[in-house]
Amino acid sequence: MVPGLNSPSATARLLLRPWRDDDLPAYRDLNADTRVMELMGGPLTAAQSDAHAARTRQHLAEHGFTFWAIELPGIAPFIGCAGLATVSFTAAFTPCVEIGWRLAAAYWGQGYATEAATAAMAFGFSQLGLPEVVAYTVPANIRSRRVMEKLGMTRNEADDFNHPGLVPDHSLSRHVLYRAKKPLPG
Ligand SMILES: CC(C)(COP(=O)(O)OP(=O)(O)OC[C@H]1O[C@@H](n2cnc3c(N)ncnc32)[C@H](O)[C@@H]1OP(=O)(O)O)[C@@H](O)C(=O)NCCC(=O)NCCS
Repeated sequence: MVPGLNSPSATARLLLRPWRDDDLPAYRDLNADTRVMELMGGPLTAAQSDAHAARTRQHLAEHGFTFWAIELPGIAPFIGCAGLATVSFTAAFTPCVEIGWRLAAAYWGQGYATEAATAAMAFGFSQLGLPEVVAYTVPANIRSRRVMEKLGMTRNEADDFNHPGLVPDHSLSRHVLYRAKKPLPG
């Protein structure tokens, strides 16, 4: 972990923080929810959820950033995760850092994903000095695309791609790519 560079921390309503062991049960519930996972390959087992959380925590240790746990102070200790990660596959737009989000369905539609991602993006540009962040999803994930658009990210259709982890005729293979460049100073 990079000292002092491990979390974008508090926003107006949220706390973005490193994961704790006691986040894992709520993350299992989130990942078992067919609504949450509808466009990401279907629900995860408890073991798959724990493995995903472990990889996310390992990413923080290795890179100094990750998809941080999101807490709603005084209301809910864990509502999901959002943040930054190195893209783990090779594509025309890699190597690069992606921004992403995953919230429990009870907390959708209140601007939390946008609020968390706004802080994560600012952290990426100002603290990490990233030149660009990307986000990607399947075309049908309108909620996620709305978040990308509200973050000011832009899509060029020429960047659309087939996810290399899926066979090309898989229903979730096709992805849209959104980009945001580091704002110019001043
Ligand atoms: C994507 C996700 C994080 C969005 O979380 P959220 O807290 O609801 O997001 P926000 O409230 O910040 O913004 C959602 C926006 O989408 C809009 N929206 C929601 N459902 C919509 C729909 N069916 N059609 C069009 N717009 C929709 C909301 O109105 C809101 O836009 P607005 O504020 O301009 O009105 C959440 O739905 C989620 O966790 N989904 C499952 C996991 C997932 O798909 N993650 C992304 C993988 S790429």
